[in-house]
Amino acid sequence: EQDSKAVMYEAHRLVAKLYHHVLTSTPYGQAALRYVEKRGLSRQIIDEFQIGFAPDSWDFTTHFLKKRGFEPQEMVEAGLLAQNDNGRIFDRFRGRIMFPIQDSQGEVIGFGGRATENIQPKYLNSPETSLFNKSRTVFNLHRSRTHIRKRNQAILFEGYMDVISTWQAGIKNGIATLGTAFTEQHARVIRRNAEQVILCYDGDNAGQEATAKALGILQQVGCTVRIAPLPQGIDPDDFIKKYGADAFSQKVILQAMPVTQFRLKHLRGKRVLHDKHDEAKYIQEALEVITQLSSPIERDMYERQLADEFTVPLETIKAEARQVHKNKQ
Ligand code: GTP
Ligand code: MN
Ligand code: MN
Ligand code: MN
Ligand code: MN
Repeated sequence: EQDSKAVMYEAHRLVAKLYHHVLTSTPYGQAALRYVEKRGLSRQIIDEFQIGFAPDSWDFTTHFLKKRGFEPQEMVEAGLLAQNDNGRIFDRFRGRIMFPIQDSQGEVIGFGGRATENIQPKYLNSPETSLFNKSRTVFNLHRSRTHIRKRNQAILFEGYMDVISTWQAGIKNGIATLGTAFTEQHARVIRRNAEQVILCYDGDNAGQEATAKALGILQQVGCTVRIAPLPQGIDPDDFIKKYGADAFSQKVILQAMPVTQFRLKHLRGKRVLHDKHDEAKYIQEALEVITQLSSPIERDMYERQLADEFTVPLETIKAEARQVHKNKQ
């Protein structure tokens, strides 16, 4: 058991090195390298994240591992190779840009593989193995941990590319989960390193829904959460490419809003307010969020905001708030 893990670590270490070499120093990696460079990644960042390329072959990695004395069946269990129903073993990752995923010690435990063309799935990740637990692993934590601890703050992104692109822009406390839902275990890992978390998911519906879920989980483990706003249809990597790193810090990270403000915005965004009846319904739902706040000052400020927004007297809003609060109990 211990031995087989050590073998899997070693295989991952060597394969990460191999794929990085293929990308940066061989003709097989040329087109992929152009793709990565076109996406704005410098040679330095490609080296730092050990980004690589798995050639479009069924047996390139298989041969490599065999030559190094690894047992093919064991490499299937490690998630580096795959096996079909007839028992044939072949390369799991073919023709993909490879992002090594490391554990908190910096040991490679899996990969995210991105297609360079418009094919499905866009990302193929390593399966769960005895090394790689997806509901616990946080991408980039081993690199960012000292920064996260020093600032007492982590920025949580949706994708590898967001972490890498913001890292290149000088933001060193970025992390991401790995294409799986955000779990309480992820939250605990983060909480051990920082109290404050800025959620910076993609500016699309999926991103906003995922934000609403993740923030509740983070609050449960004692994190103070703020939410960074992104324009519709844009992710952090897109934003930096379009508007630059300074704009990203100023207009996105520094504008991160408190949870209540996000919840109200989220609630409002899901609704079309056609008439007075819709407005009254929205006000009630907004008050359900607001009345949960423990600070009377904060409650008062949001109530005033609602009163202004719908030109309703503040006393009416407050009366409604008491009603909503009473019904909740
Ligand atoms: P780019 O298109 O390369 O910029 O990637 P992205 O990070 O913007 O991708 P997206 O926002 O679509 O997805 C966010 C994250 O979800 C990715 O980094 C992956 O971890 C994961 N993901 C996306 N697509 C897939 C998929 O097809 N399969 C799996 N397993 N995960 C995916
Ligand atoms: Mn290198
Ligand atoms: Mn997305
Ligand atoms: Mn994205
Ligand atoms: Mn993207």
